[in-house]
Amino acid sequence: MKGVADPLDFTGKTVLVVGGSSGIGRGTARAFVSRGATVHVWGTRPDLSDYEDAQELAGIHYAQVDVVDAQRVAAAASGFTELDVLILCQGTVLYNRREFETEAFRRVIDVNLTSMMTCAQTFHDALRASKGSIVIVSSTAAYRATRGNPAYAASKAGLLGLTRTLGQAWARKGIRVNGIAPGFVDTKLTKVTTEDPERLAEALGIIPLGRLGEPADMAGVVLFLASPLANYVVGETILVDGGLTL
Ligand SMILES: NC(=O)c1ccc[n+]([C@@H]2O[C@H](COP(=O)([O-])OP(=O)(O)OC[C@H]3O[C@@H](n4cnc5c(N)ncnc54)[C@H](OP(=O)(O)O)[C@@H]3O)[C@@H](O)[C@H]2O)c1
Repeated sequence: MKGVADPLDFTGKTVLVVGGSSGIGRGTARAFVSRGATVHVWGTRPDLSDYEDAQELAGIHYAQVDVVDAQRVAAAASGFTELDVLILCQGTVLYNRREFETEAFRRVIDVNLTSMMTCAQTFHDALRASKGSIVIVSSTAAYRATRGNPAYAASKAGLLGLTRTLGQAWARKGIRVNGIAPGFVDTKLTKVTTEDPERLAEALGIIPLGRLGEPADMAGVVLFLASPLANYVVGETILVDGGLTL
């Protein structure tokens, strides 16, 4: 950290948050903006104006990129001349036991796991050049059974392995790869619980901190992992769950 005045100052750094159009990714993108970075986000809708409260993303560069489509990822990535931090925050879940069907299972794995590898590999050279870092967003679902969601659980457990393995493979190239495993965060992904008072009370009852996580709670740990404060942290996934898994 020699010569770094404020290790959480990202002025002059370029950050891409894949899945940064909403929820945890949006909160993370905003946190990097507030720390001086030039921030890009990718999401699924044609324009930023298609999102609720789009003004929250003011000053952020947006592109519509379906990350399941590797060619689209390559095309969008070709617009980057440099990249210092890559946050992989894309994710989906299918309810009503659909993930027990192979096609739906595959879809969730494609979005939550395979596309993370596609994006990481696509930006490998740029991150090697900048001695940059990657933060992969897993979940507490990686550590235990997830009722009704075998694909979600498997994809998130897979991300722990991906984070460790890329961490090991790319450390000597100067790219640090780490992850976070959020607990229960109020986003559009969790509306099925937050909009059901009984399920919400049940969820709150098992969180020692007694509240849901907020995107800003996740962003703090992502900032840390992407910063020089975490220079000696490699292949690690940090639980950020208010004690949920305790
Ligand atoms: N909320 C939680 O409690 C929780 C807990 C643990 C882990 N996580 C993980 O945190 C990450 C963010 O989730 P969130 O809770 O913030 O939910 P969210 O608000 O739904 O965010 C998901 C993000 O992924 C993007 N995305 C989905 N499919 C995509 C695709 N095919 N191509 C490109 N982008 C795609 C979404 O784009 P659009 O905005 O266009 O839909 C959105 O930006 C996910 O990996 C999720 O599994 C969430």
